[in-house]
Amino acid sequence: MEKVENPPYYGRGVTVWFTGLPSSGKTTIAHKLEGILRDKGCRVEVFDGDVIRKHLCSDLGFSKQDRDTNIKRIAYVCKLMTRNGVVAIAAAISPYREIRDYARNEIGDFLEVYVRCPIDVCTKRDVKGLYKKALNGEIKGFTGVDDPYEEPLHPEVILETHNESVEDSTNKVVQLLEDKGYLQPARKGHRSSL
Ligand code: ADX
Repeated sequence: MEKVENPPYYGRGVTVWFTGLPSSGKTTIAHKLEGILRDKGCRVEVFDGDVIRKHLCSDLGFSKQDRDTNIKRIAYVCKLMTRNGVVAIAAAISPYREIRDYARNEIGDFLEVYVRCPIDVCTKRDVKGLYKKALNGEIKGFTGVDDPYEEPLHPEVILETHNESVEDSTNKVVQLLEDKGYLQPARKGHRSSL
């Protein structure tokens, strides 16, 4: 058999689960990570709450029950991806600890990434203008304003998006994937490092 000098820079199947307040930076970092992993030869898929809610979960609202159903569906798809060697990246507020733990137990190969950003910074960023609406009372039950967010107690990594760059935050996740053995460390001479 032909010897492969530079085998693909691959990832073992794993789910990287981003959780955090609205406008904390989950989607931005998820897509940055996606690009880096693709460049390294990984098979990657991103499951973003906003996108999933337009398709797989268009029937759901924002009650606790609906949020839990949303997360269960995302976890189910991530589980299928993960067991087929894909790096599944979930980016959903996922405000309830219990359902995140459910996802962890269901999936097994699961890394919880807490995108931690103070609420006042998120409110200032207000990427979609929804904090403003929530504070005006136009939206009820908005996470961080009048709906809960339960911080992870033991996330694999915490990203401080208010005082680190997108690159720094993303690199922390890449490092985590390497440390946990899901990603081979960069090797000299491989195309990804050219
Ligand atoms: S989750 O709570 O079920 O995990 P998910 O991440 O899928 O939420 O969706 C959150 C997105 O829905 C936000 O980024 C925002 O654009 C939108 N949204 C609309 N209403 C709400 C609300 N009441 N609370 C939080 N997000 C909301």
